[in-house]
Amino acid sequence: MTEEVKWIPFDVVEKFMIDVLAVCGVPQTDAEICADVLITADKYGIDSHGSNRLKPIYYDRIKEGILNPVTHFEVVRDGLATAVIDGHNGMGHVIAKKAMQMAIDKASTFGMGMVAVRNSTHYGIAGYYALMAAKNNMIGITGTNARPSIAPTFGVENMLGTNPLTFGMPSDEDFPFLLDCATSITQRGKIELYARQGKACPEGWVIDENGNATTDATRILDDLNKGKAALSPLGGIGEDLGGYKGYGYATVVEILSAALQNGAFLKMLLGIENGKKVPYPLGHFFIAIDVKAFVDVDDFKKTTGDILRTLRNSKKMPGQKRIYTAGEKEYETWMYRKNKGVPFNKQLLNEFYNLAVETQLTQYGKYFK
Ligand SMILES: NC(=O)c1ccc[n+]([C@@H]2O[C@H](COP(=O)([O-])OP(=O)(O)OC[C@H]3O[C@@H](n4cnc5c(N)ncnc54)[C@H](O)[C@@H]3O)[C@@H](O)[C@H]2O)c1
Repeated sequence: MTEEVKWIPFDVVEKFMIDVLAVCGVPQTDAEICADVLITADKYGIDSHGSNRLKPIYYDRIKEGILNPVTHFEVVRDGLATAVIDGHNGMGHVIAKKAMQMAIDKASTFGMGMVAVRNSTHYGIAGYYALMAAKNNMIGITGTNARPSIAPTFGVENMLGTNPLTFGMPSDEDFPFLLDCATSITQRGKIELYARQGKACPEGWVIDENGNATTDATRILDDLNKGKAALSPLGGIGEDLGGYKGYGYATVVEILSAALQNGAFLKMLLGIENGKKVPYPLGHFFIAIDVKAFVDVDDFKKTTGDILRTLRNSKKMPGQKRIYTAGEKEYETWMYRKNKGVPFNKQLLNEFYNLAVETQLTQYGKYFK
């Protein structure tokens, strides 16, 4: 059964998010960056990480005093092709966008650039930053650690974040290659989406304290916070389907996100100390590789495009009409949504309506009824 939704134009949702963040004390240009990252997720159909996250992840955390609306982007170490940034618990999107821009600038001079970030906060879709590099004819790589969610292979305790490891590569097609996903089978945002839609999670996504499958989305969110549930790494529970590979990649992201900047890791990112909410001092890394330092940009794009086209044209499984490559579904969703907007279900409409009232931005109320 398809869920009933109301389509709200992108410009309305984006403007509302900017205005809400401004009410919270986020400077206008920074609020525009945050809203751009969130609306980009909506445009690409990444509904777990778009405007739906405005209230719980950003608005509420600013109100709770665990997220600084004013971002102080401090360069604590600047090498030629490298840098370390302290984000002082400011807005993750703003910190991440500036850090990736630094990596891109360094790569245009030195062929490669890498920036490690400490004391940041939730930066939203990792793909946004990898795309920044791809749009500049560079390879973009980024990852971030996050609240403990994934259990290590043979463990049941949520230890690692859902730690996306994301790559963007330019190609000669209408859209770049963009592999943007968590190192767990699924991530918290998708479980929140299932909870909002009242749907059960598929078996295999999450295990309970005894290592058994658990599927009630609302309960899982609660249990994750209590350390009574854990997400499966990519590949799944145990060794049979290679779950240790997802566990390994999540660990790679945790190390790259924390160890290059002496930062917090694993359970230090719980966001709770002595029963009180505290900031999640997240770490990120951003790598930009300038294609033209290796080959002609057009050659790289053609080889990449040839690889992707060859994969898509390979023999299909019975019953399947298409083979996709990463970034393709997001591009097609954007083409489909372009003139429609963001799909809001009833629960999200209520949340935004109440937010409009609470922030006295009542001029938006009519859209969220
Ligand atoms: N900031 C954070 O802490 C954090 C943590 C986890 C995830 N995230 C974000 O959440 C978003 C969603 O993550 P996810 O793990 O749910 O992603 P997902 O499981 O939906 O996978 C998305 C990726 O898989 C590709 N893809 C999908 N179907 C495909 C197919 N049939 N063939 C080939 N490729 C296909 C997509 O193009 C995309 O690159 C991402 O933007 C990620 O960056 C953020």
